Amino acid sequence: MSRRWLKEKRKDHYYRKAKSEDYRSRASYKLKQLNRRFGLIKKGDAVLDLGAAPGGWMQVAGEAVGDTGIVVGVDLAGIKPFKEENLITLQGDITKEETIERIRAVQETFNAVICDASPDISGAWDIDHFNSVELGRHALRMAGQVLREGGSFLVKVFQGSLLKEFEGEVKREFEFVKVAKPKASRKESSEVYIVAKGLLKTPVRYGDILEVEITEQGRRPGEGIAYVDGYRVIVEDGQVGEKTRVRIKKATRRAAWGVKV
Ligand SMILES: C[S@@+](CC[C@H](N)C(=O)[O-])C[C@H]1O[C@@H](n2cnc3c(N)ncnc32)[C@H](O)[C@@H]1O
Repeated sequence: MSRRWLKEKRKDHYYRKAKSEDYRSRASYKLKQLNRRFGLIKKGDAVLDLGAAPGGWMQVAGEAVGDTGIVVGVDLAGIKPFKEENLITLQGDITKEETIERIRAVQETFNAVICDASPDISGAWDIDHFNSVELGRHALRMAGQVLREGGSFLVKVFQGSLLKEFEGEVKREFEFVKVAKPKASRKESSEVYIVAKGLLKTPVRYGDILEVEITEQGRRPGEGIAYVDGYRVIVEDGQVGEKTRVRIKKATRRAAWGVKV
């Protein structure tokens, strides 16, 4: 740790605020700001926090879920236990399959999965970017296993060439996806957060290309409706009786929208 780094750390507004408000990390304010803006965590929710040490996000999530909710935090490093019984800490690697079993032994399903995990920083921008996306992919995979339909997902990634691709992977799974940088995230840091809401369990997703048969006229002029396993796909410029190939440009829990390709 250089002197300059220590001095900057002492000066930092959120660092001092965290100290005075008894949060374990300045990162706490990033989650506070993101949750205020996007409403990811609600009273009574079950939240899984991946890469949770020293536990600042767990404290913020704990306040948001209240006494009736639960927060499970996992980190490679040990997290100092909390006095609150509904803040549960586990030491484990989020890239390992066995960790999911240990999480499930505590809590089977969750309303939100949040991940602030950072890889070991090499200093080489592209390597750190690649490793952060890899960690994000593990978090997304875990979210797919434990998140309830309609649930929320929040993940940190360092910006770089794979960000768009990873954002697309998240978009396939959720109704709403946005990339955000909260005020508390240092400007000089390349980190951004992918915010996702409304986990989908539908048979058709964003980006899919599929053959459909239009069987009904939609409500809007020119719109045709096709069904995939009972799920409604609204096709622009679709005529009843037409068989066509469509690319899905948006999917929600109730319906998907496709364009002919
Ligand atoms: C920036 S810190 C998280 C800070 C936390 N959100 C808070 O507010 O206290 C990133 C954490 O990710 C953890 N981490 C990195 N790789 C991990 C992995 N494979 N499994 C579990 N935790 C990991 C690190 O040990 C580190 O504690």
